Amino acid sequence: MKNILCIGAGYVGGPTMAMIAKKCPDYTITVVDINEDRIQKWQSDSLPIYEPGLKPIVDDTLNKNLFFSTDVAGNITKADIIFVSVNTPTKTFGKGAGKAADLQYWEKTARQILLHSKTNKIVVEKSTLPVRTAEAMERILNSHDNGIHFEVLSNPEFLAEGTAIRDLTDPDRVLIGGHSTESGQKAVNELVKIYAHWVQPEKILTTNLWSSELSKLVANAFLSQRISSINTISALCEATEADVEEVSKAIGTDSRIGSKFLNASVGFGGSCFQKDILNMVYLCEYYGLNEVATYWEQVVSINNYQKQRFVTRMIKSMFNTVVDKKIAVLGFAFKADTGDTRESPAIDICKQLLEERASLIISDPKAIRNAKIDLELYLDQIEFEPDPYAAAADAHALAVLTEWEEYKSLDYDRIFDVMIKPAFIFDGRNILDHQRLFDIGFNVYAIGKPELSHL
Ligand code: NAD
Ligand code: UGA
Repeated sequence: MKNILCIGAGYVGGPTMAMIAKKCPDYTITVVDINEDRIQKWQSDSLPIYEPGLKPIVDDTLNKNLFFSTDVAGNITKADIIFVSVNTPTKTFGKGAGKAADLQYWEKTARQILLHSKTNKIVVEKSTLPVRTAEAMERILNSHDNGIHFEVLSNPEFLAEGTAIRDLTDPDRVLIGGHSTESGQKAVNELVKIYAHWVQPEKILTTNLWSSELSKLVANAFLSQRISSINTISALCEATEADVEEVSKAIGTDSRIGSKFLNASVGFGGSCFQKDILNMVYLCEYYGLNEVATYWEQVVSINNYQKQRFVTRMIKSMFNTVVDKKIAVLGFAFKADTGDTRESPAIDICKQLLEERASLIISDPKAIRNAKIDLELYLDQIEFEPDPYAAAADAHALAVLTEWEEYKSLDYDRIFDVMIKPAFIFDGRNILDHQRLFDIGFNVYAIGKPELSHL
Protein backbone atom coordinates (compact mmCIF):
# COMPACT_ATOMS: atom_id res chain seq x y z
CA MET A 1 0.00 0.00 0.00
CA LYS A 2 1.49 3.33 -1.05
CA ASN A 3 1.45 6.40 1.17
CA ILE A 4 0.26 9.65 -0.32
CA LEU A 5 0.74 12.88 1.59
CA CYS A 6 -0.86 16.21 0.78
CA ILE A 7 0.57 19.36 2.35
CA GLY A 8 -2.20 21.98 2.60
CA ALA A 9 -5.74 21.06 3.71
CA GLY A 10 -7.61 23.89 1.95
CA TYR A 11 -10.24 24.15 -0.80
CA VAL A 12 -8.06 22.05 -3.10
CA GLY A 13 -6.13 19.71 -0.79
CA GLY A 14 -9.20 18.59 1.19
CA PRO A 15 -11.65 17.72 -1.62
CA THR A 16 -8.96 16.37 -3.99
CA MET A 17 -7.52 13.99 -1.44
CA ALA A 18 -10.99 12.91 -0.28
CA MET A 19 -11.74 11.97 -3.90
CA ILE A 20 -8.46 10.05 -4.30
CA ALA A 21 -9.16 8.24 -1.00
CA LYS A 22 -12.62 7.27 -2.21
CA LYS A 23 -11.49 6.07 -5.62
CA CYS A 24 -8.21 4.45 -4.54
CA PRO A 25 -8.74 2.20 -1.50
CA ASP A 26 -5.30 0.70 -2.17
CA TYR A 27 -3.58 3.98 -1.14
CA THR A 28 -3.32 5.61 2.28
CA ILE A 29 -3.79 9.34 2.12
CA THR A 30 -2.81 11.82 4.81
CA VAL A 31 -3.50 15.54 4.57
CA VAL A 32 -1.45 17.84 6.78
CA ASP A 33 -1.71 21.53 7.55
CA ILE A 34 -0.09 23.99 9.93
CA ASN A 35 -3.55 25.35 10.70
CA GLU A 36 -4.67 23.21 13.66
CA ASP A 37 -8.22 24.53 13.61
CA ARG A 38 -8.63 23.49 9.98
CA ILE A 39 -7.33 20.00 10.65
CA GLN A 40 -9.61 19.61 13.64
CA LYS A 41 -12.61 20.71 11.54
CA TRP A 42 -11.82 18.17 8.80
CA GLN A 43 -12.12 15.49 11.49
CA SER A 44 -15.37 16.90 12.88
CA ASP A 45 -18.98 17.02 11.78
CA SER A 46 -18.64 20.57 10.49
CA LEU A 47 -16.06 20.64 7.70
CA PRO A 48 -13.94 23.80 7.32
CA ILE A 49 -15.34 24.50 3.84
CA TYR A 50 -18.83 24.25 2.37
CA GLU A 51 -18.79 22.16 -0.80
CA PRO A 52 -21.87 20.26 -2.01
CA GLY A 53 -21.35 16.47 -1.94
CA LEU A 54 -18.08 16.61 -0.01
CA LYS A 55 -19.28 15.51 3.43
CA PRO A 56 -20.45 11.98 2.46
CA ILE A 57 -17.11 11.30 0.76
CA VAL A 58 -15.15 12.41 3.83
CA ASP A 59 -17.49 10.37 6.07
CA ASP A 60 -16.90 7.26 3.92
CA THR A 61 -13.12 7.47 3.96
CA LEU A 62 -12.12 9.28 7.16
CA ASN A 63 -9.84 7.18 9.36
CA LYS A 64 -10.05 4.29 6.86
CA ASN A 65 -7.64 5.47 4.19
CA LEU A 66 -8.00 9.25 4.65
CA PHE A 67 -6.32 10.93 7.60
CA PHE A 68 -5.88 14.55 8.66
CA SER A 69 -2.94 15.60 10.82
CA THR A 70 -0.77 18.51 11.92
CA ASP A 71 2.35 16.32 11.98
CA VAL A 72 3.97 17.63 8.80
CA ALA A 73 7.46 16.27 9.52
CA GLY A 74 6.51 12.71 10.49
CA ASN A 75 4.19 12.33 7.53
CA ILE A 76 6.81 13.60 5.08
CA THR A 77 9.14 10.85 6.27
CA LYS A 78 6.49 8.16 5.66
CA ALA A 79 5.27 9.38 2.27
CA ASP A 80 6.05 7.95 -1.18
CA ILE A 81 4.21 10.65 -3.10
CA ILE A 82 3.78 14.22 -1.78
CA PHE A 83 1.21 16.59 -3.24
CA VAL A 84 1.88 20.21 -2.34
CA SER A 85 -1.34 22.20 -2.24
CA VAL A 86 -0.43 25.24 -0.16
CA ASN A 87 -1.68 28.74 -0.93
CA THR A 88 0.16 30.85 -3.50
CA PRO A 89 -1.41 34.31 -3.13
CA THR A 90 -0.42 37.52 -4.88
CA LYS A 91 2.66 39.06 -3.32
CA THR A 92 1.84 42.13 -1.21
CA PHE A 93 5.36 43.38 -0.57
CA GLY A 94 8.73 43.97 -2.23
CA LYS A 95 9.57 43.24 -5.86
CA GLY A 96 6.54 42.23 -7.91
CA ALA A 97 4.09 43.35 -5.18
CA GLY A 98 0.50 43.28 -6.47
CA LYS A 99 1.29 40.91 -9.34
CA ALA A 100 3.84 38.18 -8.71
CA ALA A 101 2.98 35.02 -6.78
CA ASP A 102 4.06 34.93 -3.15
CA LEU A 103 6.00 31.68 -3.01
CA GLN A 104 7.00 31.78 0.67
CA TYR A 105 4.61 28.97 1.72
CA TRP A 106 5.68 26.96 -1.26
CA GLU A 107 9.38 27.33 -0.54
CA LYS A 108 8.90 26.48 3.14
CA THR A 109 7.30 23.17 2.19
CA ALA A 110 10.17 22.39 -0.19
CA ARG A 111 12.65 22.91 2.64
CA GLN A 112 10.55 20.81 5.03
CA ILE A 113 10.38 17.99 2.49
CA LEU A 114 14.16 18.09 2.13
CA LEU A 115 14.67 18.15 5.89
CA HIS A 116 12.44 15.20 6.75
CA SER A 117 12.97 12.86 3.80
CA LYS A 118 14.90 9.65 4.23
CA THR A 119 13.78 7.87 1.04
CA ASN A 120 13.13 8.79 -2.60
CA LYS A 121 9.95 10.80 -3.21
CA ILE A 122 7.75 12.02 -5.99
CA VAL A 123 6.80 15.64 -5.27
CA VAL A 124 3.68 16.87 -7.08
CA GLU A 125 2.89 20.54 -7.59
CA LYS A 126 -0.85 20.79 -7.03
CA SER A 127 -0.84 24.51 -6.22
CA THR A 128 -1.02 26.97 -9.11
CA LEU A 129 2.48 28.30 -9.71
CA PRO A 130 4.48 30.46 -12.10
CA VAL A 131 5.91 28.50 -15.01
CA ARG A 132 9.36 27.03 -14.18
CA THR A 133 8.69 26.82 -10.42
CA ALA A 134 9.51 23.11 -10.57
CA GLU A 135 13.05 24.11 -11.47
CA ALA A 136 13.37 26.11 -8.22
CA MET A 137 11.85 23.25 -6.27
CA GLU A 138 14.33 20.80 -7.75
CA ARG A 139 17.19 23.13 -6.89
CA ILE A 140 16.13 23.24 -3.24
CA LEU A 141 15.44 19.52 -3.02
CA ASN A 142 18.70 18.56 -4.67
CA SER A 143 20.82 21.09 -2.77
CA HIS A 144 22.07 18.33 -0.41
CA ASP A 145 24.12 15.38 -1.48
CA ASN A 146 22.08 12.96 0.62
CA GLY A 147 21.52 10.24 -1.98
CA ILE A 148 17.76 10.82 -2.03
CA HIS A 149 16.14 11.27 -5.43
CA PHE A 150 13.28 13.75 -5.69
CA GLU A 151 11.24 13.74 -8.88
CA VAL A 152 9.08 16.84 -9.29
CA LEU A 153 5.83 16.67 -11.29
CA SER A 154 3.23 19.30 -12.14
CA ASN A 155 -0.40 18.25 -11.72
CA PRO A 156 -2.48 21.44 -11.59
CA GLU A 157 -6.04 21.33 -10.31
CA PHE A 158 -8.95 22.57 -12.43
CA LEU A 159 -11.84 22.14 -10.00
CA ALA A 160 -14.15 25.11 -9.40
CA GLU A 161 -15.55 25.78 -5.94
CA GLY A 162 -19.21 24.91 -5.56
CA THR A 163 -18.86 22.11 -8.13
CA ALA A 164 -15.61 20.59 -6.81
CA ILE A 165 -16.99 17.09 -6.34
CA ARG A 166 -18.58 16.98 -9.79
CA ASP A 167 -15.38 18.37 -11.34
CA LEU A 168 -13.21 15.84 -9.51
CA THR A 169 -15.51 12.90 -10.28
CA ASP A 170 -15.71 13.64 -13.99
CA PRO A 171 -12.91 16.02 -14.95
CA ASP A 172 -12.58 17.40 -18.50
CA ARG A 173 -8.96 16.35 -18.22
CA VAL A 174 -6.20 15.57 -15.74
CA LEU A 175 -2.92 17.23 -16.62
CA ILE A 176 0.42 15.76 -15.59
CA GLY A 177 3.75 17.33 -16.52
CA GLY A 178 7.09 15.67 -15.97
CA HIS A 179 10.63 15.47 -17.27
CA SER A 180 11.28 13.28 -20.31
CA THR A 181 14.06 11.42 -18.44
CA GLU A 182 13.57 7.79 -17.44
CA SER A 183 12.92 8.70 -13.79
CA GLY A 184 10.64 11.54 -14.88
CA GLN A 185 8.50 9.25 -17.01
CA LYS A 186 8.44 6.59 -14.28
CA ALA A 187 7.06 9.19 -11.85
CA VAL A 188 4.51 10.39 -14.42
CA ASN A 189 3.30 6.80 -14.78
CA GLU A 190 2.94 6.47 -10.98
CA LEU A 191 0.63 9.47 -10.97
CA VAL A 192 -1.28 8.33 -14.07
CA LYS A 193 -1.90 5.04 -12.23
CA ILE A 194 -3.68 6.88 -9.40
CA TYR A 195 -6.03 8.86 -11.66
CA ALA A 196 -6.65 5.83 -13.89
CA HIS A 197 -8.67 4.36 -10.98
CA TRP A 198 -11.59 6.50 -12.22
CA VAL A 199 -10.58 8.79 -15.11
CA GLN A 200 -10.64 7.49 -18.70
CA PRO A 201 -7.12 7.18 -20.16
CA GLU A 202 -7.81 9.60 -23.02
CA LYS A 203 -8.59 12.33 -20.47
CA ILE A 204 -5.23 11.98 -18.74
CA LEU A 205 -2.89 14.31 -20.61
CA THR A 206 0.83 14.10 -20.07
CA THR A 207 3.12 16.96 -21.12
CA ASN A 208 6.47 18.46 -20.29
CA LEU A 209 6.69 20.22 -16.92
CA TRP A 210 6.61 23.77 -18.24
CA SER A 211 3.57 23.23 -20.49
CA SER A 212 1.68 21.81 -17.55
CA GLU A 213 2.55 24.70 -15.21
CA LEU A 214 1.78 27.29 -17.87
CA SER A 215 -1.48 25.63 -19.01
CA LYS A 216 -3.00 26.16 -15.58
CA LEU A 217 -2.38 29.91 -15.71
CA VAL A 218 -3.57 30.08 -19.31
CA ALA A 219 -6.79 28.17 -18.54
CA ASN A 220 -7.70 30.69 -15.83
CA ALA A 221 -6.68 33.59 -18.06
CA PHE A 222 -8.94 32.38 -20.89
CA LEU A 223 -11.87 31.68 -18.56
CA SER A 224 -11.72 35.09 -16.91
CA GLN A 225 -11.15 36.76 -20.27
CA ARG A 226 -14.53 35.41 -21.40
CA ILE A 227 -16.22 36.98 -18.39
CA SER A 228 -14.52 40.34 -18.88
CA SER A 229 -15.33 40.22 -22.60
CA ILE A 230 -19.04 39.67 -22.00
CA ASN A 231 -19.00 42.26 -19.21
CA THR A 232 -17.69 44.91 -21.62
CA ILE A 233 -20.58 44.01 -23.90
CA SER A 234 -23.01 44.38 -20.96
CA ALA A 235 -21.96 48.05 -20.74
CA LEU A 236 -22.64 48.48 -24.44
CA CYS A 237 -26.01 46.74 -24.05
CA GLU A 238 -27.07 49.11 -21.26
CA ALA A 239 -26.21 52.04 -23.53
CA THR A 240 -28.05 50.69 -26.56
CA GLU A 241 -31.04 48.76 -25.14
CA ALA A 242 -29.68 45.48 -26.44
CA ASP A 243 -29.97 42.62 -23.91
CA VAL A 244 -26.72 40.92 -22.93
CA GLU A 245 -28.41 37.57 -22.26
CA GLU A 246 -29.79 37.56 -25.79
CA VAL A 247 -26.36 38.49 -27.14
CA SER A 248 -24.69 35.72 -25.08
CA LYS A 249 -27.13 33.18 -26.40
CA ALA A 250 -26.76 34.39 -29.96
CA ILE A 251 -22.97 34.18 -29.93
CA GLY A 252 -22.75 31.13 -27.65
CA THR A 253 -24.67 28.93 -30.09
CA ASP A 254 -21.73 29.29 -32.46
CA SER A 255 -19.88 26.08 -31.64
CA ARG A 256 -16.55 27.85 -32.17
CA ILE A 257 -17.40 30.27 -29.35
CA GLY A 258 -19.40 27.95 -27.07
CA SER A 259 -22.08 28.84 -24.55
CA LYS A 260 -20.34 28.43 -21.19
CA PHE A 261 -18.87 31.24 -19.08
CA LEU A 262 -20.74 33.98 -20.90
CA ASN A 263 -22.88 35.12 -17.96
CA ALA A 264 -22.45 38.85 -17.53
CA SER A 265 -22.15 39.70 -13.86
CA VAL A 266 -20.96 42.20 -11.27
CA GLY A 267 -17.51 40.84 -12.05
CA PHE A 268 -15.59 37.69 -11.34
CA GLY A 269 -14.24 36.92 -7.90
CA GLY A 270 -12.55 34.01 -6.19
CA SER A 271 -9.06 33.38 -4.97
CA CYS A 272 -7.57 32.47 -8.33
CA PHE A 273 -8.64 34.33 -11.47
CA GLN A 274 -7.20 37.74 -10.62
CA LYS A 275 -4.16 36.27 -8.86
CA ASP A 276 -3.33 33.93 -11.73
CA ILE A 277 -3.71 36.50 -14.53
CA LEU A 278 -1.56 38.97 -12.62
CA ASN A 279 0.96 36.20 -12.06
CA MET A 280 1.03 35.63 -15.83
CA VAL A 281 1.27 39.39 -16.47
CA TYR A 282 4.29 39.52 -14.17
CA LEU A 283 5.89 36.59 -15.97
CA CYS A 284 5.38 38.32 -19.33
CA GLU A 285 6.99 41.48 -17.98
CA TYR A 286 9.87 39.41 -16.59
CA TYR A 287 10.47 37.99 -20.07
CA GLY A 288 10.22 41.48 -21.63
CA LEU A 289 6.89 40.75 -23.32
CA ASN A 290 5.29 44.06 -22.35
CA GLU A 291 2.58 44.08 -25.01
CA VAL A 292 1.46 40.61 -23.97
CA ALA A 293 1.42 41.71 -20.33
CA THR A 294 -0.74 44.76 -21.15
CA TYR A 295 -3.17 42.60 -23.16
CA TRP A 296 -3.88 40.25 -20.24
CA GLU A 297 -3.86 42.97 -17.59
CA GLN A 298 -6.91 44.46 -19.29
CA VAL A 299 -8.97 41.45 -18.15
CA VAL A 300 -8.44 42.55 -14.55
CA SER A 301 -8.98 46.26 -15.34
CA ILE A 302 -12.33 45.49 -16.96
CA ASN A 303 -13.29 43.44 -13.93
CA ASN A 304 -12.64 46.42 -11.66
CA TYR A 305 -14.53 48.69 -14.08
CA GLN A 306 -17.52 46.35 -13.99
CA LYS A 307 -17.78 46.51 -10.19
CA GLN A 308 -17.47 50.30 -10.26
CA ARG A 309 -20.06 50.59 -13.02
CA PHE A 310 -22.55 48.60 -10.95
CA VAL A 311 -22.20 50.96 -7.99
CA THR A 312 -22.35 54.06 -10.20
CA ARG A 313 -25.58 52.83 -11.78
CA MET A 314 -27.06 52.18 -8.33
CA ILE A 315 -26.25 55.67 -7.10
CA LYS A 316 -27.38 57.40 -10.28
CA SER A 317 -30.72 55.62 -10.37
CA MET A 318 -31.36 56.31 -6.68
CA PHE A 319 -31.39 60.07 -7.31
CA ASN A 320 -27.60 60.45 -7.07
CA THR A 321 -27.34 59.73 -3.37
CA VAL A 322 -27.40 56.69 -1.11
CA VAL A 323 -26.46 58.55 2.08
CA ASP A 324 -28.17 56.85 5.05
CA LYS A 325 -30.22 54.69 2.69
CA LYS A 326 -30.53 51.10 3.78
CA ILE A 327 -29.39 48.71 1.06
CA ALA A 328 -29.98 44.99 1.49
CA VAL A 329 -27.18 42.96 -0.09
CA LEU A 330 -28.34 39.50 -1.10
CA GLY A 331 -25.31 37.27 -1.45
CA PHE A 332 -21.73 37.92 -0.39
CA ALA A 333 -19.92 34.72 -1.51
CA PHE A 334 -17.91 35.04 -4.76
CA LYS A 335 -20.28 32.54 -6.39
CA ALA A 336 -23.16 30.29 -5.33
CA ASP A 337 -22.71 27.05 -3.36
CA THR A 338 -19.68 28.18 -1.44
CA GLY A 339 -19.05 30.16 1.74
CA ASP A 340 -15.77 31.43 0.24
CA THR A 341 -15.56 35.20 -0.11
CA ARG A 342 -11.96 35.57 -1.28
CA GLU A 343 -11.84 38.45 -3.83
CA SER A 344 -15.64 38.40 -3.94
CA PRO A 345 -16.97 41.32 -6.01
CA ALA A 346 -19.31 41.93 -3.04
CA ILE A 347 -16.34 43.15 -0.99
CA ASP A 348 -15.49 46.02 -3.35
CA ILE A 349 -19.12 46.85 -4.05
CA CYS A 350 -19.97 47.01 -0.34
CA LYS A 351 -16.89 49.12 0.38
CA GLN A 352 -17.81 51.58 -2.39
CA LEU A 353 -21.39 51.84 -1.07
CA LEU A 354 -20.08 52.39 2.45
CA GLU A 355 -17.81 55.17 1.14
CA GLU A 356 -21.01 56.74 -0.20
CA ARG A 357 -22.38 56.46 3.36
CA ALA A 358 -25.08 53.92 2.63
CA SER A 359 -26.08 51.68 5.49
CA LEU A 360 -25.81 48.02 4.55
CA ILE A 361 -27.56 44.88 5.67
CA ILE A 362 -25.84 41.79 4.32
CA SER A 363 -27.48 38.41 3.83
CA ASP A 364 -25.94 35.16 2.58
CA PRO A 365 -26.78 31.51 3.28
CA LYS A 366 -23.16 30.44 3.89
CA ALA A 367 -20.79 33.41 3.83
CA ILE A 368 -21.75 35.70 6.71
CA ARG A 369 -18.87 34.51 8.89
CA ASN A 370 -16.33 35.39 6.17
CA ALA A 371 -18.14 38.64 5.28
CA LYS A 372 -17.67 39.85 8.86
CA ILE A 373 -13.93 39.28 8.54
CA ASP A 374 -13.72 40.96 5.11
CA LEU A 375 -15.55 44.06 6.33
CA GLU A 376 -14.21 44.18 9.88
CA LEU A 377 -13.20 47.84 9.54
CA TYR A 378 -16.77 48.87 8.73
CA LEU A 379 -18.81 46.84 11.20
CA ASP A 380 -20.50 49.92 12.72
CA GLN A 381 -22.11 50.68 9.33
CA ILE A 382 -23.30 47.12 8.62
CA GLU A 383 -25.84 44.63 9.90
CA PHE A 384 -25.77 40.94 9.05
CA GLU A 385 -29.03 39.06 8.62
CA PRO A 386 -29.27 35.51 7.27
CA ASP A 387 -33.02 35.84 6.57
CA PRO A 388 -33.50 37.77 3.29
CA TYR A 389 -37.02 38.86 4.25
CA ALA A 390 -35.80 40.43 7.47
CA ALA A 391 -32.91 42.02 5.54
CA ALA A 392 -35.34 43.67 3.10
CA ALA A 393 -37.45 45.33 5.80
CA ASP A 394 -37.26 49.13 5.45
CA ALA A 395 -34.62 48.90 2.72
CA HIS A 396 -34.57 51.33 -0.19
CA ALA A 397 -32.88 48.80 -2.46
CA LEU A 398 -31.91 45.17 -2.88
CA ALA A 399 -28.61 44.30 -4.54
CA VAL A 400 -28.24 40.68 -5.63
CA LEU A 401 -24.52 39.94 -5.70
CA THR A 402 -24.41 36.11 -5.62
CA GLU A 403 -26.50 33.78 -7.76
CA TRP A 404 -27.88 31.64 -4.90
CA GLU A 405 -30.71 29.45 -6.19
CA GLU A 406 -32.96 30.41 -3.26
CA TYR A 407 -32.98 34.09 -4.30
CA LYS A 408 -34.80 33.15 -7.50
CA SER A 409 -37.89 31.94 -5.65
CA LEU A 410 -38.26 34.47 -2.82
CA ASP A 411 -41.72 35.94 -2.31
CA TYR A 412 -40.99 39.32 -3.91
CA ASP A 413 -44.57 40.59 -3.31
CA ARG A 414 -43.90 40.16 0.40
CA ILE A 415 -40.49 41.82 0.06
CA PHE A 416 -41.91 44.77 -1.91
CA ASP A 417 -44.50 45.38 0.82
CA VAL A 418 -41.88 45.83 3.55
CA MET A 419 -39.49 48.05 1.56
CA ILE A 420 -39.34 51.86 1.42
CA LYS A 421 -40.80 53.23 -1.81
CA PRO A 422 -39.75 53.75 -4.52
CA ALA A 423 -38.18 50.29 -4.18
CA PHE A 424 -35.17 49.36 -6.29
CA ILE A 425 -33.68 46.00 -7.27
CA PHE A 426 -30.19 45.73 -8.75
CA ASP A 427 -29.70 42.23 -10.10
CA GLY A 428 -25.94 41.79 -10.36
CA ARG A 429 -26.29 38.19 -11.52
CA ASN A 430 -29.29 38.35 -13.87
CA ILE A 431 -31.08 35.56 -12.02
CA LEU A 432 -34.45 37.19 -11.29
CA ASP A 433 -37.63 37.52 -13.33
CA HIS A 434 -37.27 41.21 -14.13
CA GLN A 435 -40.61 41.78 -15.84
CA ARG A 436 -42.46 40.20 -12.91
CA LEU A 437 -40.54 42.37 -10.43
CA PHE A 438 -41.36 45.46 -12.49
CA ASP A 439 -45.04 44.45 -12.49
CA ILE A 440 -44.95 44.16 -8.68
CA GLY A 441 -43.76 47.77 -8.56
CA PHE A 442 -39.97 47.53 -8.30
CA ASN A 443 -37.60 49.67 -10.35
CA VAL A 444 -35.37 47.01 -11.83
CA TYR A 445 -31.77 47.34 -12.98
CA ALA A 446 -30.06 44.23 -14.31
CA ILE A 447 -26.63 43.79 -15.85
CA GLY A 448 -26.56 44.53 -19.57
CA LYS A 449 -30.30 45.12 -19.83
CA PRO A 450 -32.49 48.14 -20.36
CA GLU A 451 -33.73 49.52 -17.04
CA LEU A 452 -37.35 48.81 -16.07
CA SER A 453 -38.29 51.94 -14.18
CA HIS A 454 -41.59 53.44 -13.04
CA LEU A 455 -39.92 56.78 -12.42
P1 NAD B 1 -6.20 27.46 0.90
O1 NAD B 1 -5.67 28.72 1.45
O2 NAD B 1 -7.64 27.11 1.12
O3 NAD B 1 -5.34 26.23 1.50
C1 NAD B 1 -3.97 26.21 1.59
C2 NAD B 1 -3.58 25.57 2.92
O4 NAD B 1 -2.16 25.38 2.96
C3 NAD B 1 -3.94 26.43 4.15
O5 NAD B 1 -4.83 25.71 4.99
C4 NAD B 1 -2.58 26.69 4.82
O6 NAD B 1 -2.65 26.69 6.24
C5 NAD B 1 -1.76 25.51 4.31
N1 NAD B 1 -0.31 25.74 4.40
C6 NAD B 1 0.41 26.83 4.03
N2 NAD B 1 1.73 26.63 4.26
C7 NAD B 1 1.85 25.39 4.81
C8 NAD B 1 2.96 24.60 5.27
N3 NAD B 1 4.20 25.07 5.21
N4 NAD B 1 2.70 23.38 5.76
C9 NAD B 1 1.44 22.90 5.84
N5 NAD B 1 0.36 23.59 5.41
C10 NAD B 1 0.56 24.81 4.91
O7 NAD B 1 -5.85 27.46 -0.64
P2 NAD B 1 -6.61 26.67 -1.82
O8 NAD B 1 -7.79 27.45 -2.27
O9 NAD B 1 -6.77 25.24 -1.44
O10 NAD B 1 -5.52 26.79 -2.97
C11 NAD B 1 -4.31 26.08 -2.91
C12 NAD B 1 -3.63 26.18 -4.26
O11 NAD B 1 -4.45 25.58 -5.26
C13 NAD B 1 -3.38 27.60 -4.75
O12 NAD B 1 -2.17 27.62 -5.45
C14 NAD B 1 -4.53 27.86 -5.70
O13 NAD B 1 -4.19 28.80 -6.69
C15 NAD B 1 -4.72 26.49 -6.31
N6 NAD B 1 -6.10 26.24 -6.79
C16 NAD B 1 -7.18 26.63 -6.06
C17 NAD B 1 -8.47 26.33 -6.52
C18 NAD B 1 -9.69 26.75 -5.75
O14 NAD B 1 -10.78 26.62 -6.29
N7 NAD B 1 -9.60 27.26 -4.54
C19 NAD B 1 -8.63 25.58 -7.69
C20 NAD B 1 -7.49 25.17 -8.40
C21 NAD B 1 -6.23 25.51 -7.93
C1 UGA C 1 -11.97 28.90 -11.32
C2 UGA C 1 -11.92 27.96 -12.54
O1 UGA C 1 -13.26 27.84 -13.06
C3 UGA C 1 -11.40 26.59 -12.15
O2 UGA C 1 -11.28 25.77 -13.32
C4 UGA C 1 -10.00 26.76 -11.51
O3 UGA C 1 -9.51 25.51 -11.09
C5 UGA C 1 -10.13 27.69 -10.32
O4 UGA C 1 -10.66 28.96 -10.76
C6 UGA C 1 -8.81 27.98 -9.67
O5 UGA C 1 -7.78 27.88 -10.28
O6 UGA C 1 -8.93 28.35 -8.51
P1 UGA C 1 -13.56 29.22 -9.22
O7 UGA C 1 -12.83 30.50 -9.07
O8 UGA C 1 -13.68 28.34 -8.04
O9 UGA C 1 -12.87 28.33 -10.38
O10 UGA C 1 -15.05 29.49 -9.75
P2 UGA C 1 -15.65 29.89 -11.19
O11 UGA C 1 -16.86 29.09 -11.41
O12 UGA C 1 -14.66 29.88 -12.26
O13 UGA C 1 -16.12 31.39 -10.94
C7 UGA C 1 -15.19 32.44 -10.78
C8 UGA C 1 -15.93 33.77 -10.78
O14 UGA C 1 -16.42 34.09 -12.07
C9 UGA C 1 -17.14 33.80 -9.85
O15 UGA C 1 -17.19 35.03 -9.18
C10 UGA C 1 -18.30 33.65 -10.81
O16 UGA C 1 -19.50 34.16 -10.32
C11 UGA C 1 -17.79 34.42 -12.01
N1 UGA C 1 -18.42 34.06 -13.29
C12 UGA C 1 -18.29 32.80 -13.77
C13 UGA C 1 -19.11 35.02 -14.00
O17 UGA C 1 -19.21 36.19 -13.57
N2 UGA C 1 -19.68 34.68 -15.20
C14 UGA C 1 -19.57 33.42 -15.71
O18 UGA C 1 -20.11 33.19 -16.83
C15 UGA C 1 -18.86 32.46 -14.98
